[in-house]
Parts: sequence; structure tokens; C-alpha cells
Amino acid sequence: MELLCSKRVQSFHTVRNQEVELMTKFNARSSSEPINLSSLTLVVTNNIVYRAIFGKKSDNAAGFDELMRQVQGLLGKTSTADFFPWMEWLNKFNGRNAGMDKYFGELDEILDQEIHNHLHPERSKPENEDLIDVLLRTQKDSSAAISLTSEHIKAVPIDIFLAGNDTSSATLVWTMAELIRNPSVMKKAQDEIRQVVKGKQMVEADQLPKLIYLKSVLKEALRLHPPAPLVPRETIQDCTVGGYKIPAKTRVIINIKSIGTDRKHWENPLEFRPERFLNSSIDFGGQNFEMVPFGVGRRGCPGMNFSIPLLELALANLLYRFDWQLPPGMTSEDLDMEEALGLTMHKKTPLCLAATPAII
Ligand code: HEM
Repeated sequence: MELLCSKRVQSFHTVRNQEVELMTKFNARSSSEPINLSSLTLVVTNNIVYRAIFGKKSDNAAGFDELMRQVQGLLGKTSTADFFPWMEWLNKFNGRNAGMDKYFGELDEILDQEIHNHLHPERSKPENEDLIDVLLRTQKDSSAAISLTSEHIKAVPIDIFLAGNDTSSATLVWTMAELIRNPSVMKKAQDEIRQVVKGKQMVEADQLPKLIYLKSVLKEALRLHPPAPLVPRETIQDCTVGGYKIPAKTRVIINIKSIGTDRKHWENPLEFRPERFLNSSIDFGGQNFEMVPFGVGRRGCPGMNFSIPLLELALANLLYRFDWQLPPGMTSEDLDMEEALGLTMHKKTPLCLAATPAII
């Protein structure tokens, strides 16, 4: 509640604006060549989450991006020991334990350093608290409902990095990939944005509520390509699901992707058709079980309110500022929509598109 409530998310709006603007400038500089949207969107989401957590830019952003890539890669690989604990010894030889020690050690060092900087007596009080400020304040507050150890103060940001960066960037990539395959949808979204924003340099946060079609585009992308498609739970009591008896304390995996593409609930479920949301109250907040890209209930994604303004702002600006095409010689049939195995469901091959600055 303290870290990711609406008020706190709102306090990061300058960070979002600055990083999204930087993203489009970087884009404009290299517009003669196809833009690798998979890396560009990861940079922007990494930067926004990093600044929300630490209140400043990383001193080594490229190094941090690479570190996150390694950690995500490692966590996304299946560990046999998760299913057969007696095989834990395997991880000593297949590089898993060594990788965990190395990369989590590096993350730990970054956190130690940043926490040390936050505790420095000469540090001036920031106008807006970052997430480390909030955690340290809560730790000192004797009336707080929880008592936080320094382990917690490091673990929570790591959890947020792992859960927040990759998922947001994967969503932007899947959305742009669907838009390039569906040019009439892309045009409709661009027409809406350009009509609402008219003549301004950038789409700004206060214009987002007017972009109704864009919101449907994002919903449709999250329905078809939920970036965290499998959500684990443990049953607390014996139950029956679909005729199967499931004993208490069984690990079950909920398949979010197959829920969102279930023919019982969706007409032509594999088609990218944002119009299906225009006259529908179905949303992704966990109230409509036809579509649950952020999970449901107490363990549902606490970062939903953080991610939506970020995704909408980034997407709206990419579409407002540029016209997008497939690289010369490529048709939409050539576009590989295969999913990569991993913690987050990414597009397997990077999405590279040609961007022409739009006349606005
Ligand atoms: C498109 C964006 C995102 C999607 C689709 C997404 C989806 C999810 C899903 C499905 C879960 C598991 C929920 C469950 O078990 O019911 C989850 C957990 C979580 N998400 Fe997100 N998420 C996104 C972005 C973010 C962002 C931006 C943040 C933080 C700023 C964040 C923070 C978290 C955290 C902390 C957890 C809990 C991890 C845990 O249980 O330890 N997420 N997310």
C-alpha cells in the first residue's frame, strides 16, 4: 500500500515523462535504421523503475540492464531441484548456484551502496520520497504494522525489479508487434492520439484518460500476450476443479494465457481486435475472470497501477511521434510471433521496426 499506491505512483510522473521523452529522442536520432524496440523498451522501463526505487539514475545503466538480463535469464530456467529436491546437488555443477551467487551478489552491492547513500546524514530530504526512503521511514516507525529488517529493505526492491521491468517492456513489444501486423488498428490508434494531442510535442499524462481506443489496444495486447502467463498457487484445502480432485497443499499453476484466449468467453480469441473492449466493462483489475493478466486476489500484481500509466504514456508517444513500418523487404507474415521460454513471456526474436518521425 505504501510503495505502490496511486498517490505514490502519481508522484513519479516527472520520472515517467522524462524517461519516455528520452526514449523518443533516442529513437529520432537513429530513425534511418530499424529500431530495436525490444531493447529500447527495456531501457525505458529499467530506468523508470530504477529511478522510482532509488530516486536517481543508475551510474552504470548499461551494466544494470545487463545484470537484470542475466538474473531474469537464470530465474527463468527450470530447476530440476524445484520438483525433486534431492537433486539440489545438480545446481552446484550446472552453473545455477554460481550464477545466483554472482548476480544476486552484484544486486546486493548496488542495494547496499544506495541504502548507504540514503542514510548519509548530509542527504537532503527529497521533494518526493523514492521507494528506499519509504522503506527506511517505515523501518524507523515504531507504530508501523510491520517491522522491517535490512534484508526486507533489500528484498522488496529486488522483487520489484524482477516483477516490474521485464513485464512492462514485454507488453510494449507485444503491443507494437500486434499493431504492425494490424495496420488499420495502428492507424485508428494514431488518429485518436493525434486528434487529442494536436500540435503538442509529446503526449502528456493528463491526455491519457481521453485515449479510449489506445486503452483497448493495451487491454487486447494483455489478453493475448500476458507477460506473466503462469501464476503459481498452493491449495489450502481439498477441492474439485473441472472434475479433478485436488488435495490440500498441492502446487497448482494457473494459466493466465489460456484463460484470456478461452473460446467459451472470447469470440475469435486469437484475433487482435481492440474493438471488443469498446462497449464492454471487462477490465484487467482482477474483477473479471475472463481476463486476469495481473493475477487475482491478495497475491495479485501490486504494480498494476504503476505499470498502466507507464505503458500508456510510452505507447502513446511511440505512436504519436512516429509512423512505423516493417523493415524493407519484410512482410507481416515474416514477423515471428514466437514466445521465448523464461520468467517473463517475451517475444522470442527482438522486434525491429523502421520509424519515420511523424509530422505533428
Ligand atoms: C504489464 C505489466 C505487468 C503485468 C502484466 C504484471 C503481472 C503480474 C502477475 C500476473 C503477477 C502474479 C500475480 C498473482 O500471483 O496473482 C505479478 C506479481 C507482482 N508484480 Fe506485476 N505485473 C506487471 C508490472 C509490474 C510492475 C511495474 C511492478 C512494480 C513496479 C510489479 C510488481 C509486482 C510484484 C512486486 C509482484 C509480486 C511478486 C511476488 O509475489 O513476490 N509488476 N505481476
